[in-house]
Amino acid sequence: MIIKMENNMNQTEDIKDIRDWKIIEEAFEGGGEIARFRRMIMRYRCAMLEVKTKLDVLNAELSLQTSRNPFETIKCRIKSPRSILEKLERNHLPLTVENAENNLNDIAGIRVICSFPDDIYMLADCLLEQDDIKLIAKKDYIKNPKPNGYRSLHLILEVPIFLTDEKKPMRVEVQFRTIAMDFWASLEHKLKYKKHIKKAESISNELFYCAELIAQLDGRMQQIREKIEEE
Ligand code: GTP
Ligand code: MG
Repeated sequence: MIIKMENNMNQTEDIKDIRDWKIIEEAFEGGGEIARFRRMIMRYRCAMLEVKTKLDVLNAELSLQTSRNPFETIKCRIKSPRSILEKLERNHLPLTVENAENNLNDIAGIRVICSFPDDIYMLADCLLEQDDIKLIAKKDYIKNPKPNGYRSLHLILEVPIFLTDEKKPMRVEVQFRTIAMDFWASLEHKLKYKKHIKKAESISNELFYCAELIAQLDGRMQQIREKIEEE
């Protein structure tokens, strides 16, 4: 689940967090590994903050420079310990700090919601041009949508974090979407987890059709913006 930074102190999240950590403690059966795991989570949190700050800085600059701001919202989340454990289990890997660090690219995640499709590429380029950011992987589901219609630009980045006794490159997943793409993905995500849907095939066809409509709408809204800018 994506939670906004300012909602981190939310009580329900805290309770869920405590339950999650209990599962991890049981998986580790005590020992020193849990302390290393907590430190790993702290490192991902720092990496997420580094990239979030870069986006905040771009946001501050662009809101001064142009009459319109390409950013709608920036959301951050750290993968819960339970989801880390489940993803490693799905990959048949035991729960260790090394396995998590070497195999999961999305422990730190940022979602950037933009106004228009071309904002996505402009902001992604601004981030990639920075000399402490390394691009590990790029998945362009806008140019090549998923078969179900899903659209977003995904970047796996590596950013260094500076702690008291170490400098460590850390991976962060950044997803760029328009408001319309996010609207579709949020609903699709909710429906996906509703099990035993009758007429599943016709619903996926319908969702795919909606994704196409949304892509057309994004294109047309961008054209309207361009016409206004020309005046
Ligand atoms: P994960 O194991 O889910 O991280 O997938 P992956 O490693 O194959 O990476 P991918 O880039 O395909 O997807 C990463 C993330 O993008 C997911 O965790 C979702 O947040 C989002 N995503 C990808 N595909 C879909 C989709 O079909 N629908 C929705 N709603 N979100 C998607
Ligand atoms: Mg993921």
